[in-house]
Amino acid sequence: MKHLIDPTDLSVEEIDGILNLALDIISNKERYSEACKGKKLATLFFEPSTRTRLSFEAAMMELGGNVLGFSSADSSSATKGESVGDTIRVVGCYADIIAMRHPKEGAPMLGSMVSPVPIINAGDGGHNHPTQTLTDLLTIKREKGDLNNFTIGLCGDLKFGRTVHSLIKALSRYEGIKFILISPKELKVPDYIITEVFEKNNIDYEEVTTMEEVMSKLDIIYMTRVQKERFFNEADYVRLKDTYILDKSKLKNAKETLSIMHPLPRVNEISTELDDDPRAAYFRQALNGKYVRMALILTLLGVNV
Ligand code: NCD
Repeated sequence: MKHLIDPTDLSVEEIDGILNLALDIISNKERYSEACKGKKLATLFFEPSTRTRLSFEAAMMELGGNVLGFSSADSSSATKGESVGDTIRVVGCYADIIAMRHPKEGAPMLGSMVSPVPIINAGDGGHNHPTQTLTDLLTIKREKGDLNNFTIGLCGDLKFGRTVHSLIKALSRYEGIKFILISPKELKVPDYIITEVFEKNNIDYEEVTTMEEVMSKLDIIYMTRVQKERFFNEADYVRLKDTYILDKSKLKNAKETLSIMHPLPRVNEISTELDDDPRAAYFRQALNGKYVRMALILTLLGVNV
């Protein structure tokens, strides 16, 4: 049985298979509408979410399956002191597959060790978010036509942003990608990403503190929110929260073919004046999240259509 905890749990070939399946679902929706009939997905969200939980639920519904679950730790037996392991063992008796989000790094991994059904990590603390990464990869494939040979700027909270950590790990396995890391020095990517991913694999990367100095080189800019809930003190958050605001003036030297991505939710780091710019890919990205989760559910359940 296969779980998805870290983006590298899937080989590049398996990821390509999931992305191609998502593309087939997009063009042949009816063919998949009963693919998961009689199956249940449990969404166990110990931390808030809009897109991830609802796109998982919509994905299972569009496959003809059913969903159950909870959307905050307060409404689960975690408040009574139940361990993650026990919750997973029990929910594994009711559902065929589980998507789980937890504020503690490693909680979904722990769950997968005792789970009788596949576990999908829907975000663990500041660590990983592999299904957002699949969403991002499908978006890059659809917007750019290829997952190789481009320059991507990752901007904002690169320290606590789990979507960034997972995306870097996944993209590090493709060819000819240059990473430009744009953050204040307090929010740089963790050291393990530099040593274990970039240096170990001899990958081209650069760290800068402003987006203006690199904008003209970028094929993709991946904006992120400063992760308020992971700061130890409010004053640091307040000082850093408005460091980067992407607006029309900042795009002056940008390529016409730039893609602007954001995992969402947005706070103020992309001005709404860009929402109608054809380069703004973030709402298309959110839609891709549903299709790629449909493909992932089918793959982990071993359903062939
Ligand atoms: C992200 C997350 O939860 O890490 N959201 C999402 O799943 N699309 C990004 C964020 O919360 O900033």
